Amino acid sequence: MEATAPRHHGPVAIRLVRPRDARVLQSELLANRSWLKRWEATSPDGPVSFDMRLGIRRLLQQYRDGVGVPLVMEHEGQIAGQLNVWGIARGSLSSATIGYWVSERFAGKGITPISVALATDLCFEELRLHRMEICIRPENRASLRVVEKLGFRYEGLRRRYIHIDGDWRDHFSFALLADEVPRGVLGRWLDGTVPDGAATVPLADRRAAGIEPST
Ligand SMILES: CC(C)(COP(=O)(O)OP(=O)(O)OC[C@H]1O[C@@H](n2cnc3c(N)ncnc32)[C@H](O)[C@@H]1OP(=O)(O)O)[C@@H](O)C(=O)NCCC(=O)NCCS
Repeated sequence: MEATAPRHHGPVAIRLVRPRDARVLQSELLANRSWLKRWEATSPDGPVSFDMRLGIRRLLQQYRDGVGVPLVMEHEGQIAGQLNVWGIARGSLSSATIGYWVSERFAGKGITPISVALATDLCFEELRLHRMEICIRPENRASLRVVEKLGFRYEGLRRRYIHIDGDWRDHFSFALLADEVPRGVLGRWLDGTVPDGAATVPLADRRAAGIEPST
């Protein structure tokens, strides 16, 4: 397999994570504990010790196995966070899921939506995937803005779907199909042709998720 080439737009770039990113990523994760904790995947078997060097090695093994694409997001050449394409299924699904975080000091600069657009286009164009998914906790306003900006389409409420911050948490799921974005996700966003309301969550699901008072 050809190694995945970096992609850029303005000051933002995505590229494959490297073993030598371990020190920077580890210190960013530590410095941003309180910023990230509420949204971080955890193990249902209890706390596990985390070694970033080993973590990157595992991610790169998944990349070689064709089941993931572990990327870092950069802003003006500085590592701003991680974007991980995981759970790549080939064949009759041809689908994958995207997860992401940025350090607090990089928040609000549009780094994540640009990176998600670049990564989704990469998956559609190079990996020939058919569907990309993003799952978000109903309370995560900032992350919901990312899918709103890019027009990922709301698909539904998944009950106690992913173990986050110590418990099974409900998630809203959003997806895009390759044929919904013939000019690419980034192209569609830059054109200003993202359909209004694609990511809107119906009131019934907002109520079911407990973020809207029920009557
Ligand atoms: C969710 C997250 C990745 C968004 O990334 P980003 O690169 O800041 O994305 P954007 O610049 O498009 O900002 C998205 C929204 O974040 C909010 N935001 C902006 N600056 C912020 C700041 N300094 N602090 C907190 N939230 C901020 C705004 O609501 C913004 O929407 P707007 O552009 O309409 O104002 C980032 O907030 C993050 O890493 N959070 C912690 C980890 C996390 O939630 N991961 C996602 C799990 S699904």
